Amino acid sequence: PYRRQRQMCIRDSLMICAALLAGGIGTRLDVGMPKQFYLIADKPILIHSLEAFLKVEEMDEIIVSSPKECINKTKDVIKEYELTDPRITVIEGGKRRSDTILNSINYTLENDYPKDSIMVTHDAARIFVTPQLIKDSVRYAKQYGAASAVIPATDVIFESKKQGILTDVPDRQYLLQSQTPQSFNINHYLEIYSDLSDEEIDKLDEAMILFHMRGHEIGLFEGDRTNFKVTRPSDIKIANAMLRG
Ligand code: CTP
Repeated sequence: PYRRQRQMCIRDSLMICAALLAGGIGTRLDVGMPKQFYLIADKPILIHSLEAFLKVEEMDEIIVSSPKECINKTKDVIKEYELTDPRITVIEGGKRRSDTILNSINYTLENDYPKDSIMVTHDAARIFVTPQLIKDSVRYAKQYGAASAVIPATDVIFESKKQGILTDVPDRQYLLQSQTPQSFNINHYLEIYSDLSDEEIDKLDEAMILFHMRGHEIGLFEGDRTNFKVTRPSDIKIANAMLRG
């Protein structure tokens, strides 16, 4: 992949990479293994989302993260499904999701990505992501510097800042649920990151929070209700039913 990157650098002024986030262990799904390896319609969760990224031609590299102790297993699963595309790289994830994003960014620095390259972060557990959503996120990130898929909130959202007591009802017309892909200009991310306090870094979960903390504009594009994150046992039934029809 390194040689391939060097060729890209010469051809393009920027690279587009994916950080496919599979560095977690899926505590809430509770299936006795890190959830990325769990089969939905006979295919591991990770493979479903990886296949969507492989269909996007403009993607130069796909950085798949894994918990440290599962790196070999991650590589084996990718091989088992015959995904031999040289764009795939497996790296070690971090303690928190934001650390996994940072590890993915560090990988791009170590491999001399050109300035203004774009990273598309995506939860591997969102198996219904489509090539179109990925392409939309790249387009918006190029335009705004940072971009996220969103869907309008379905339910009325109650705010409760006091234990068990409703404190506010924000107007639903302005409420959106965030999804991934979330994409950004890697330089902009690093510039903001280097300016954050430890306390602010602790609050980062997703990349967009970082951009919001420093008032950076974030472009929003339409996600998809089917692009949900397989998180709890009931999601397994829904995902299987959707794939098996
Ligand atoms: N993730 C990651 N690195 C972490 C934690 C999470 O790359 N340190 C990834 C997960 O693998 C997942 C995505 O971020 O694909 C969304 O997170 P979530 O659904 O919360 O996954 P888990 O952390 O695995 O699940 P749980 O919170 O139930 O333990």
